[in-house]
Amino acid sequence: MFLKNAWYVAAWDHEVTADKPFGRVLLNEPVVMYRDTRGQLVALEDRCCHRHYPLNRGVVVGDRIECLYHGLQYDRTGKCVRIPAQEAIPATACVKSYPVVERNHWVWIWMGDPALADPAKIVDFKWLDHPLWRAKGTTFHVKGGYELVIENLLDLSHLTFVHKSTIGNYATAEAAEVKVRRTDDDVTVVRWMIDKPAPPTYVKAGGFKGNVDRWQFINFTPPCFVRLDVGAVDTGKGAPEKKHSAFAAEGELPGGIEMRNLNAITPETDKTCHYFWAQAHNFLIDKPEVTEMLFKQIDEAFRQDWDIFENQQKWIDLNPEAPRLDVNADVGQIQGINLLRRRIQEEQRSPQPA
Ligand code: FES
Ligand SMILES: [Fe+2]
Repeated sequence: MFLKNAWYVAAWDHEVTADKPFGRVLLNEPVVMYRDTRGQLVALEDRCCHRHYPLNRGVVVGDRIECLYHGLQYDRTGKCVRIPAQEAIPATACVKSYPVVERNHWVWIWMGDPALADPAKIVDFKWLDHPLWRAKGTTFHVKGGYELVIENLLDLSHLTFVHKSTIGNYATAEAAEVKVRRTDDDVTVVRWMIDKPAPPTYVKAGGFKGNVDRWQFINFTPPCFVRLDVGAVDTGKGAPEKKHSAFAAEGELPGGIEMRNLNAITPETDKTCHYFWAQAHNFLIDKPEVTEMLFKQIDEAFRQDWDIFENQQKWIDLNPEAPRLDVNADVGQIQGINLLRRRIQEEQRSPQPA
């Protein structure tokens, strides 16, 4: 079950072109995207209304998309506007069209009632194209449900065990002060590791020689967005007192390193997802090799998670009813998943559009 009336990330902006239709399954619905002659995005149901051939295998003809099988053409609203060798086009000849918006290098799609699609509700990922930040990201196709990824990001105690070679050390699980803040709209896990050694990636990026004060602010906003404000400063510089607001546009703590880890986890099916992520930094922004190094380190770490999700999903499928044990470190992920499920229940109880 998914939240339908919500914006999701469907693609990176560069993936959708005017040359070739681009298909992706989102929330169990096949969607085809392309750009029209003005470069505007179009997103349609990726199933020809004639014999259900995928439109993504067809071609873009001007502002239209043409099905490869028998040549039906659709306009950007999803209306069929040409049937070869036939003048009359039935009113039922159409496919669904989706509201789409391009923002922060991502293509955002509204999967529910189009009348409710308000671009002001798109979650802020400004660090992807902010002049004071540099970011690089990619997409993983994960053979595991999207909730597994959200749970993973909301409980960073796993860094100690899964990511020893990159962003984890003993302090991330054993020595963090953890607080969870919940509002009606989001859940934020605040973790501080005071006067502890920096993990390998941080030493590489920040050149730390001694212990650091390290923070991880993890924000979950339903249905599937997890943004992390993370960083470290030499210990004793007063980082915990100085860092008042998470997710400041410009960063707050000079002298250390500050990063944003940005995640949008779009369900593909009940058991698979498209995991869009990027790592952004606000130090050494004139050095592309730093952006690349951070990307590579996080990429290596996230591939370790990827393996975890796929193996979890396989075992869950063997016995979906097996009970799960909760431990103290799970409080953030439990709050996050509860908020998501509550939203889905509320939506399903509310009257559906005709
Ligand atoms: S299936 Fe698309 S034109 Fe026939
Ligand atoms: Fe991880």
